[in-house]
Amino acid sequence: MTGITRRSFLGRSSAGIAATATLPALTAGPQEKAAAQQSGPAPRTRIELTVNGESHALEVEDRWTLVEVLRDHLELTGTRVGCDRGECGACTVLLDGKNIYACSYLAVWADGKAVETVEGLARNGVLDPLQQAFIEHDAPQCGFCTSGQLMSAKALLNEGAEVTEQSVREALVGNICRCSNFLNYQAAVLAASRGA
Ligand code: FES
Ligand code: FES
Repeated sequence: MTGITRRSFLGRSSAGIAATATLPALTAGPQEKAAAQQSGPAPRTRIELTVNGESHALEVEDRWTLVEVLRDHLELTGTRVGCDRGECGACTVLLDGKNIYACSYLAVWADGKAVETVEGLARNGVLDPLQQAFIEHDAPQCGFCTSGQLMSAKALLNEGAEVTEQSVREALVGNICRCSNFLNYQAAVLAASRGA
């Protein structure tokens, strides 16, 4: 894994960097977040975004993260929350085609943008080739990290560049698998990229 670090992954995600660098509240722990919730109503903003091709107009509290809106308000619970502080990748979604940590991105920042979640991968009951490859390579174990792995892999394929073992490792380096099934995930992405 020469040259691959989580730091370099985060460096590619300018949105994630901006979120963690400019908004310390997003990296607050559960106690700080609970205290913030008790401090009273926050300003609200009306936003419009598309999620999996469907338009939504919502009024959100300015402090809500994108993953909160997806899971708690749009009931798209396929996007997981592991660390809730930009470390595990379980919350990965696509924003205008690029992968971001939805726990570290404010919902108001998604105004006017297109969000894709794992629920949008299958079309008309047919699994996305990545999903099919994940199954065939026995990639998901407990499955907690799987939707995040899928969306990071999708972002890689969206780039349209040649996919190599190295580029797959780089694409998935921000997605931690506590079941340590990294090699199966990587093999699955490589296979999907080759139509195997
Ligand atoms: S839940 Fe977002 S990075 Fe872990
Ligand atoms: S399959 Fe269990 S965390 Fe990845």
